[in-house]
Amino acid sequence: MIHVKKAFVIGHPIRHSRSPLIHGTWLSQYGIAGSYEAIDVAPEGLPAFIERLRQGEFAGGNVTIPHKEAVFALCDSVDPLARTIGAVNTLVRQADGKLHGFNTDYMGFLGNLDQNAPGWDRSRGRAIVLGAGGASRAILVALRERGLTEIALLNRTEEKAVALAREIEGPFLPGRLDRFADFAPGASLLVNTTSIGMHGSRFDDLDLSLLPKAALVTDAVYVPLVTPLLADARSLGLRTVDGLGMLLHQAVPGFEAWFGVRPAVTAELREKIEATL
Ligand code: ATR
Repeated sequence: MIHVKKAFVIGHPIRHSRSPLIHGTWLSQYGIAGSYEAIDVAPEGLPAFIERLRQGEFAGGNVTIPHKEAVFALCDSVDPLARTIGAVNTLVRQADGKLHGFNTDYMGFLGNLDQNAPGWDRSRGRAIVLGAGGASRAILVALRERGLTEIALLNRTEEKAVALAREIEGPFLPGRLDRFADFAPGASLLVNTTSIGMHGSRFDDLDLSLLPKAALVTDAVYVPLVTPLLADARSLGLRTVDGLGMLLHQAVPGFEAWFGVRPAVTAELREKIEATL
């Protein structure tokens, strides 16, 4: 009998998740006898679902909004970087039923830039990160891991940037968004982690022309794929990388852990997901 390995993504709501399409594409591409399903789990149902996972029905799965912090607390062991980020987005059930949690969002961020802007971190220079919410945490850890020497952490609410810089520890310089003009001239990378850009919204008073001509601009928002920030950067001749690759690359380590094959993020996969945006 063929043993079919099963994986899942849990969230609430979950029906818009692209993860089943990503993992389903890889399962058929690599000819693996496995499944990956989206399961809507409300917060009150989370402990029961985690118990079901311990019993052995699944090899593991992904965790999305609003469960990333709650699952962190329910794991038996957690990867040190997931601990720093304070959230788990990937679960692996071990042979003894124990659950190991990790966070692949920071790997998604790095995989996306490595694939689409190779050498982006060579100068080890200054980055500017806009936003101090959940997405920002993983990206700050990623930049710290790559050895960037100065990371300006700018947020609408300055206190949140100050608190996050203190909590994560690293070469972070917290401030308000209006400090952009002070940091921009020496920056090699600008990252948006705020929700600005969704539905075509844009930053007021962010003068991208202050960035060096060689700077790279990237956005964690991927709907729309070309956010106003990326469009403005392109019109100034700056290099840009959109946020869709981050979603694709964060899926790689989980698939490898559950199904035993490290999958490739190809142009075909990207086109398939892009068609659903
Ligand atoms: P996520 O988990 O997606 O990062 P979040 O934790 O709610 O979401 O964080 C949202 C981020 O977007 C925050 O940095 C937020 O700034 P505040 O800390 O000041 O709230 C930022 N953000 C959301 N709407 C914004 C707006 N209109 N202008 C500036 N920043 C905004």
